[in-house]
Amino acid sequence: MKNTSHATHAFDQWIRGPFVEINTALEALYWQQEDRDNVAGIGKSLKHQLESEGRSLIKVLLAEGNTSQDFNRAFNLLGSVGLYMAACRRHDLTEPSRETRSPLIEASALAMHIGPTIGMAPRFSTAHLTTHNIAVNGTYKCFTTLHDETLFIDYNTRSILAFKRAAEALTKIYAMGISHPLCYDLLLTAKQSLNDVIESNNILFSELDTDRFFHCVRPYYKSYRVGSQIYRGANAGDFAGINIVDMLLGLCRANEPFYSQMLVDKFTYMMPEDQLLLRDAMQKTNLMDDFLNQRQHKNQMWYQRNLALFLEVCKLHGATANQHHDQLVNKYITQPASHIQSQHMDKLTASGPPLHILLRSLEKLRDLRVGNQRDDIATRHHDILTLHETLN
Ligand code: HEM
Repeated sequence: MKNTSHATHAFDQWIRGPFVEINTALEALYWQQEDRDNVAGIGKSLKHQLESEGRSLIKVLLAEGNTSQDFNRAFNLLGSVGLYMAACRRHDLTEPSRETRSPLIEASALAMHIGPTIGMAPRFSTAHLTTHNIAVNGTYKCFTTLHDETLFIDYNTRSILAFKRAAEALTKIYAMGISHPLCYDLLLTAKQSLNDVIESNNILFSELDTDRFFHCVRPYYKSYRVGSQIYRGANAGDFAGINIVDMLLGLCRANEPFYSQMLVDKFTYMMPEDQLLLRDAMQKTNLMDDFLNQRQHKNQMWYQRNLALFLEVCKLHGATANQHHDQLVNKYITQPASHIQSQHMDKLTASGPPLHILLRSLEKLRDLRVGNQRDDIATRHHDILTLHETLN
C-alpha cells in the first residue's frame, strides 16, 4: 500500500487476516447452538483475542494521529476501525443499551478523529464494504469468509452501481431538457440500469440463504456506540444514486417531510462525493413536473416517445422498490424475525427502531416510488395517471 505508515499497514493486514478468521470461528460456534442468536458465554478466548489484538494495534494508530491529509488513507482506516467496532458489537463485547459510552476507548477516539475530518459519521459505512472496498490479491475487506456474506456484499454492490448509472443518466437529461432528441437515449440508459438492479436483486433473492444472512451476516450491521453516541447501522441504501433517481423522476420530493427527514439522516453515512451529488439533486426540479408543464406539446413526436419511456422508467423504479420491500426485506428480515426468541427481538434492526416502525417507513418509501395512492403522504399517483392520459 502506498502512503501508509507501518501501523496503518499492520492494522490493515490484521483486519484482512486474523480478524476475519476469529469472526468466522465465532460464527461456527454460534451456528452449532440450538438458539443461534445466543452469543453469551460462547468462544470467550476468541472474543478476548479479537478485542485485545485490535485494541493494541489501534493504540499505536491513535498515538500517531490522523495528520496525513490523505483522504483515501483516512477513509480506509475509518472503515477498518469501524469493522472492528461492529464486530465487537456483534459478539456482545459492547452493547449500546448496556453502556453510556463505548468501552472501546481508543477505537472511539480514533474514529471520532477521522470521521469529522473527512465529513462522515465516525463509523463504518456501506461504501467501506461495497463500492469503495479495495481488494488485495482478489479479496476485499469483510467480516467473515462465509459465502453468504460475500454474496450479499457483491449483489449489494452490483445494485448500487446500477442505481448510480441510472442517476447519472437522469442528471444529464436535466441539463438538456425533456424535448432534447438525446433525452430518449438517456432514458434508455436509465431503463437498462434499473433492469440491472432488478436482475441483481433477483439473483440475491434466489441465492442468499435466509438463516445464514439473518444469523451470521446481518448482526454485523447493527448500531453501535462511538464515544457516547449511538450511530445507526449501515444499510445498502447509504449512497446518493437511489435518491437522485427518486427526486429527478419526481416520485419523491425533498420538501416532503417524511422523505427529507430520511435524507437528513443519511448524509454523513455517504461518501463526501455522494453528499455533494445529493445536495445538488435536492435543488433541482424534476422530470415529471417538466412533462406535466409541457402537456401543450402532447401531439409532438418527442413528447409521445420520451413520455412513454419516462413512464416506463418510473414503473421500473417502483418495481425495484417493490422487490426490496416485498421480497428482500420480507424474506430476510420480517419472516425470520417472526421466529426469533423474544429476548433477542429488541436488537434486530440495523437502525435501531422496532421492526414494525421500520417496516412502516420502508412501506412509505415503496409507495412513494411505486406511486401508490395514500392519504398520509403525497405520492404522484394522480400525476402519473394524468400523464398516461396524454399518451396516444
Ligand atoms: C438481503 C437483502 C437486503 C435486505 C434484507 C435489506 C433490508 C433493508 C432494511 C431492513 C432496511 C432498513 C434499514 C435498517 O435496517 O435499519 C434497508 C434499507 C435500504 N436498503 Fe436494503 N436490504 C437488502 C438489500 C438491498 C439492496 C441490494 C439495495 C440496493 C441498493 C438496498 C437498498 C436499500 C435502501 C436504498 C435503503 C434505505 C431506505 C430506502 O431508501 O429505501 N437494499 N434495507
